[in-house]
Amino acid sequence: MSYKKQYQQSINEPEVFWAKAAAGISWNKPWDKVLDTADTPFYQWFPGAEMNTCYNALDRHCEAGRGGQDALIYDSPVTDSVIHFSYDQLRDKVAVFAGVLRQQGVEKGDRVVIYMPMIPEAVISMLACARIGAIHSVVFGGFAPKELAARITDADPKLVISASCGIEGTRVIPYLPLLSEAMQLADASSMTQIVVSRPQLPVTDPDPAVLLWDDAIANAAPADCVPVAATDPLYILYTSGTTGQPKGVVRPSGGHAVALKWSMDHIYNVQPGDVYWAASDIGWVVGHSYIVYAPLLHGCTSILYEGKPVGTPDASAFWRVIEQHKVNCLFTAPTAFRAIRREDPQGKLLHQFDISSLKSLFLAGERCDPDTLYWAQEQLQIPVIDHWWQTETGWAMAANPMGIESHTVKAGSPTVAVPGYDIRVLDDDGVEVAAGESGNIVVKLPLPPGNLSTLWKNDERYFEAYLSLYPGYYLTGDAGIIDDQGYIWVMSRIDDVINVAGHRLATGVLEEVLTGSDVVIECAVLGVADKLKGEVPLGFVVLSAEADVDEVALKQDLRQRIRQQVGAIATPRDILIVERLPKTRSGKILRGTMRKIADGEEYTVPATIEDPEVLNEIAAVLSRAG
Ligand code: COA
Ligand code: AMP
Repeated sequence: MSYKKQYQQSINEPEVFWAKAAAGISWNKPWDKVLDTADTPFYQWFPGAEMNTCYNALDRHCEAGRGGQDALIYDSPVTDSVIHFSYDQLRDKVAVFAGVLRQQGVEKGDRVVIYMPMIPEAVISMLACARIGAIHSVVFGGFAPKELAARITDADPKLVISASCGIEGTRVIPYLPLLSEAMQLADASSMTQIVVSRPQLPVTDPDPAVLLWDDAIANAAPADCVPVAATDPLYILYTSGTTGQPKGVVRPSGGHAVALKWSMDHIYNVQPGDVYWAASDIGWVVGHSYIVYAPLLHGCTSILYEGKPVGTPDASAFWRVIEQHKVNCLFTAPTAFRAIRREDPQGKLLHQFDISSLKSLFLAGERCDPDTLYWAQEQLQIPVIDHWWQTETGWAMAANPMGIESHTVKAGSPTVAVPGYDIRVLDDDGVEVAAGESGNIVVKLPLPPGNLSTLWKNDERYFEAYLSLYPGYYLTGDAGIIDDQGYIWVMSRIDDVINVAGHRLATGVLEEVLTGSDVVIECAVLGVADKLKGEVPLGFVVLSAEADVDEVALKQDLRQRIRQQVGAIATPRDILIVERLPKTRSGKILRGTMRKIADGEEYTVPATIEDPEVLNEIAAVLSRAG
């Protein structure tokens, strides 16, 4: 069926469309209804049905004769190791660790926080939670204790799973001091912590609350899959909100499995048995969906890569992995390609490898700039596909659906709406704009399966943040255009979210850290353009009149505060000290105008500005800082 027909059916007859897709999943009990609309704007997919995601990801394939195929290949240049796990082996390891969780009193519906580097035990932990119906909440290993503590407090887990260290290039990052600080901040120090002791930093004298992974699995009996309601949460994944309190995106089990399985075939055009590699991190939604769940639900081999695009050991890392494991489809962030290009602009390293297995490259996490797209196309000579999605949606809203019908690529656009997503552009009054005009990108409800159902323990915040501004529509937070051929162009955020190397950060959170300093009375953090990372934070601070500080030391202190309280990924490019910030007459800081000045873009002086002279002061400070 053509894209147009499939798309129209998905919008006009969503129940027919998704019931058909749901046949790809094994159910313990059929649904009462495909879509429950009784409690709009809260929708539920497949109510009444029961299934188990781990069963669908592992056991089902073992039973169907795929048990000997690789399910997961752990490739870790930072530890110089490659380990293959067949479907049978992974199922057995997951079943045993699920038994450990059981032994520790974890039951269906309990939460488990996972704070781990990119090691197989992280994937095993996620799947083990799914196996017994526990809800995992993975926290990105690069987050600082305060961020981890906020997530532990909100998720209120039965236990936490971690590791002794992460490895960043050649640096060993000890996790236990960070974990211990987070547990204290969350007032949860006595909570059980299951810890993988890695050879790079063995745990020698564990805290009484720590149970070592190897000891735990030595005494555990394997646990079977527990059927859960399709509407039960599989996981909570926290993402940046506008305040310091992150938003706990809740992912219902059934719709997630249906949508992800469907996406493998229809968007990525991969088949069971193919090798799929999402070079991301399990701490992000891309890692959840396309390192762990989708490839396994589809019977593919998934690569778990503990390394970077460059520096582990060099810009040929990706090509080596593709050749060695015969990767068919690669998914990563444009930043990774910019990093490779910076070190190997002519692609000399690339041409030393046989990457003929690779059929397509998918990019997401940030807008793919045309330069990066052209470079990747020229080097790889395969389709390069930008696709657009977010933590909340769990899978792509716009893409070139390669398994349905390949569309002509327009550089800078993630192509067309994916079936299931009725994407519109509205002006500030909620009126749909004409093709080619920019506005707020929204999705007409209901969102398709696989999307968030609410925010953890906070229906009200879910409604306020996403559904209240334009009744009947989900607010994506992105602004852009739909052109007259239906291509979507995602141009910017409408809130204070910035995107640093594909990592989503809220500038408000960084501002809270800066104003935590006694000498800072006011500040603004902007995302400014960066050649490698897309955007990087830049801070402006106004100091109290009495402050008598050494400017260099202060800047260092403020940068350090951000690294310690949020994480190194949020390190600002610079912190600039200014006399005052440009504001409207009602006191709103003109961050948009400041960003344009910082990026050297043309800007108009807003009519509402209190004192236009402040903009010149900001420009002068920026020019002095270079
Ligand atoms: N644990 C601990 N620290 C981490 C971390 C983790 N999981 N991930 C990143 N960091 C640290 C880094 O070590 C670095 O610390 P430093 O400032 O002390 O050197 C800092 O956070 C910034 O890291 P990063 O943003 O990764 O920048 P980089 O300069 O080290 O590497 C790239 C640049 C482009 C190679 C890297 O950003 C990259 O691989 N990007 C792809 C992003 C991606 O896959 N995003 C997922 C969305 S799909
Ligand atoms: P995250 O929730 O971390 O995945 O971040 C989601 C946000 O990243 C989106 O709302 C967009 O602002 C941005 N984003 C992700 N993918 C793309 C893309 N392909 N094009 C433009 N922006 C993107």
